[in-house]
Amino acid sequence: MSPPGHERICHISSVWVDAHKTADDWVIKMSETPIGAIILAAGKGTRMKSDLPKVLHSLAGKPMVRHVTDLVERLAPQRICVVIAPGMAQVAAAVAPYRTAIQAEALGTGHAALSAAPEMRDFTGNVFILFGDTPLITAETLQAMLSARSSATSPAVVVLGMRPAGPNAYGRLIQAADGSLERIVEFKDATDAEKAAPLCNSGVMLVDGARLFGWLDQIGNDNAKGEYYLTDIVALARADGAACAVVEGSEEELLGINSRVELAAGEAILQRRLREAAMLAGVTMPMPETVYLHCDTRFGRDVFVGPHTVFGPGVTIGNNVEIKGFCHFEGAKVADGAILGPYARLRPGADIGENAHLGNFVEIKKATIEAGAKVNHLSYIGDARVGAGANIGAGTITCNYDGFDKHFTDIGAGAFIGTNTSLVAPVTIGDGAMTAAGSTISRNVPADTLSIERASEEHKPGWVARFRARKLRAKQDHAAD
Ligand code: UD1
Ligand code: MG
Repeated sequence: MSPPGHERICHISSVWVDAHKTADDWVIKMSETPIGAIILAAGKGTRMKSDLPKVLHSLAGKPMVRHVTDLVERLAPQRICVVIAPGMAQVAAAVAPYRTAIQAEALGTGHAALSAAPEMRDFTGNVFILFGDTPLITAETLQAMLSARSSATSPAVVVLGMRPAGPNAYGRLIQAADGSLERIVEFKDATDAEKAAPLCNSGVMLVDGARLFGWLDQIGNDNAKGEYYLTDIVALARADGAACAVVEGSEEELLGINSRVELAAGEAILQRRLREAAMLAGVTMPMPETVYLHCDTRFGRDVFVGPHTVFGPGVTIGNNVEIKGFCHFEGAKVADGAILGPYARLRPGADIGENAHLGNFVEIKKATIEAGAKVNHLSYIGDARVGAGANIGAGTITCNYDGFDKHFTDIGAGAFIGTNTSLVAPVTIGDGAMTAAGSTISRNVPADTLSIERASEEHKPGWVARFRARKLRAKQDHAAD
């Protein structure tokens, strides 16, 4: 049993960024009090060793700060303010249209939260304070914090705690005998007894917006780091007679990302969640750990995804699609019943029709492959339309680029493109037309017409035998010298 004021929630493995979301997956309890969020993102992120601000490094193809804003978005907030450092215009652009506030100097988390005052001081709802580099928190956990806020003791501050395997340098949550939160002590300021406290501070808080800035104004910097600690607002709230509570989250969702090693650890967690969401929504993955998903990948039902497939941004897969594995997709749409791969590559603008077949080493770029068409082997189809039921022979290439411009190839319904055809765009192959294997086609072919473009074939009987004999003789004469 958890003590009162200390609501324990168990580890939640379901996802908030799901690969296949339906409206009824999730019920967000609409809170009567308006919700706001301050997202702290002004830290330099030195350990990333990067020219890119830390919070713009991506997980599942999306900058981590956007994961945080999207998380808050699921709670239907009225206001979000991201605190950035001077010169972080890139972050401001990435989080637009949300508000940003600038922390002129990095003087600590309390100072960072106070820097949001111009945007947030008049906001009297429930205010979450989140970190831009802690993007794996689940909406269920934020919901649990909101529930704690409206619990019997109506705590003015709800802190998200955790029990990490190695508590190390985290701040410690000091609880009263009744389980409520008394204060937070930073590791550097903690006594040995305080360091032994079971719960660590994740950094995430939910505060009564009407009182938040009154407390932030009072935070000082007389401590081991000489910083303005956000964590001090717990003791300030208590001194003001307000109750404070703890909600517990899993260590996994509270992973803070400071280095590229932690970025990869975060990616692994997110990928696992995305894959689980996809499988729960009707996607079969015999080796899920080898499949890489983008956070916006969309799947229909009864999709099969074979091993070692990468989904880049903007991929939508219909129902009953079979992806045989070792495929790479980005910016592509695949309709019901298509069969792809192994080793198929779909690049932006690939639009694959119902029951179309794409085989191994086939690259499709900015092209529509209409229903039932087949491109089964070793082909490049770019800036093109392949009509319904057309058959594209092995090694067919659309020669779409002249070094300056891209040109279109239009292949009619039911056309049969012979093996190793080069289609020099712009060119149109009429419905039901056929090209002979090995042809280079640069003129439009009317419907139902055979186009053959080859040098005439000559046979020289006995030529090879004579050639071989001459070569062997020369070799023997050379060896005898
Ligand atoms: C903070 C908590 C600590 C907690 C830990 C969890 C405080 C005082 N301490 O410590 O109790 O265990 O997080 O990870 O809050 N930031 C700014 N401006 C600043 C300083 C920080 O925007 O001046 C931002 C950072 O970009 C980051 C977040 O605030 O997103 C946390 O800052 P960080 O310096 O990592 O805090 P910790 O020392 O880890
Ligand atoms: Mg930190």
